[in-house]
Amino acid sequence: MDSFIIRGGARLKGKIEISGSKNSALPILAVGLMTDEKVTLHGVPRLSDIDSMLKLVGELGCHVYRHEPRTKTVGDGPDLNGPLDLELRDEKTSEARYDIVKTMRASICVLGPLLAKRGRAIVSIPGGCAIGDRPVDLHTRGLEKLGAEFRYENGNIVGSVPKGRLKGTRMYLGGAQGPTVLGTINVMCAAALAEGETVLVGAACEPEVTDCGNLLNKMGAKITGHGSPEIRIEGVDKLHGAEHRIIPDRIECGTFMIAAAISNGELELKNCNLDHLIAVVDRLEEVGVKIERQNGTIFVNASRRINPIEMTTQPYPGFPTDIQAQLMAYLAIGDGMSVITERIFPDRFLHVGELNRMGARIRKEGPTAIVHGVQQLQGAAVMASDLRASAALVLAALAAKGTTRIDRVYHIDRGYEKIEQKLAAVGADIERVKGERAVA
Ligand code: EPU
Repeated sequence: MDSFIIRGGARLKGKIEISGSKNSALPILAVGLMTDEKVTLHGVPRLSDIDSMLKLVGELGCHVYRHEPRTKTVGDGPDLNGPLDLELRDEKTSEARYDIVKTMRASICVLGPLLAKRGRAIVSIPGGCAIGDRPVDLHTRGLEKLGAEFRYENGNIVGSVPKGRLKGTRMYLGGAQGPTVLGTINVMCAAALAEGETVLVGAACEPEVTDCGNLLNKMGAKITGHGSPEIRIEGVDKLHGAEHRIIPDRIECGTFMIAAAISNGELELKNCNLDHLIAVVDRLEEVGVKIERQNGTIFVNASRRINPIEMTTQPYPGFPTDIQAQLMAYLAIGDGMSVITERIFPDRFLHVGELNRMGARIRKEGPTAIVHGVQQLQGAAVMASDLRASAALVLAALAAKGTTRIDRVYHIDRGYEKIEQKLAAVGADIERVKGERAVA
């Protein structure tokens, strides 16, 4: 298992290119299962979660082909990772095996597409994960309202469509913690091929839902209102091939905005959509960070004083839970007391203990963390526990005095493309050490 060794104190300065969104690309790869024609995607990041999803859609019959990197602007623009083609070649296997699902919960995204196109699906039930209990009841409930039936057998969800084709209806999709992002996408995908009209009330409004709806429309679906709490879908008989560019990763972008601020640096972030980060900009400006936008580029400058703030995570367009840990790392070296409340995943605080090992003073009370700012964090040996908690530790390490070793960085490899290379290119002192050396 690899580790990062980070020597803190460097001021980050320079340009970073933001990758395509992981959380948009994952469900979109499952959309490749909904047509017999070719779907070409640009901007799919190279990440271990993407590899897992490609393996899964491959097992479900999609032929996957990654082209050579495209550096020049041709047609749909440059693509440094190379465009990716998905082409469904056979429909014999409709089972998402435990081996894959246990590594990546987004595997559940194949459920809607498989039921809509093939009328059958077996998906291993995703278990709990480091950020809390993550049920999929809203996914199955929404699909049941479209006419799917489920039984639970040996750890699997076994789905079928007894009437042969799903049927549109009006439904409420929200749950106790608000809307569900992947649940909305799953049901929207299924409804795209259902008979008649579906109206999803209480839908998630995240940009990743909009991105998926936009691709489906390019493929011939008739979806309106995606990006709002009410999505209307007029089902069609068939979807065709299409070409699509994945939106920029708003979470990676927010993480690097905080990297600029916490290192007292100055970063130019390219390939961003600041509209997707409006609540993050609001909170960071309140802290004192200076943020400017020019077209698709964001300029971030740290301020000398880190003002304490209150922040609550909320569904989009509120402050994203996926940037809660990173903001906490920043506020840990603030002036005064900040209050962070987690409303999406109330137990998503595994980073608190590790930040405290680095000298932070953070106390957790239920779904709230009280952050007493300290003057300086110190380097320490810490452990990555989940993707965003790991990103918070990297940020804390950049600002800390001395050397930090972060073990188990495979968590970070799931969702940040080449993070150590991107940070090193703007002046961070960060090194990846491999396996045995790391744990020695
Ligand atoms: N929920 C239910 N029942 C369901 C589904 C969700 O009760 O059937 C609850 C969840 O437990 C949670 C809330 O609803 O309390 C919202 O969860 P949501 O379904 O929106 O989460 P998700 O779609 O499974 C995606 C992202 C997460 C991100 C959340 C919230 C992907 C692959 N994952 O998960 O990203 O935190 O939305 O924005 O898109 C990450 O990237 O680190 C990550 C965890």
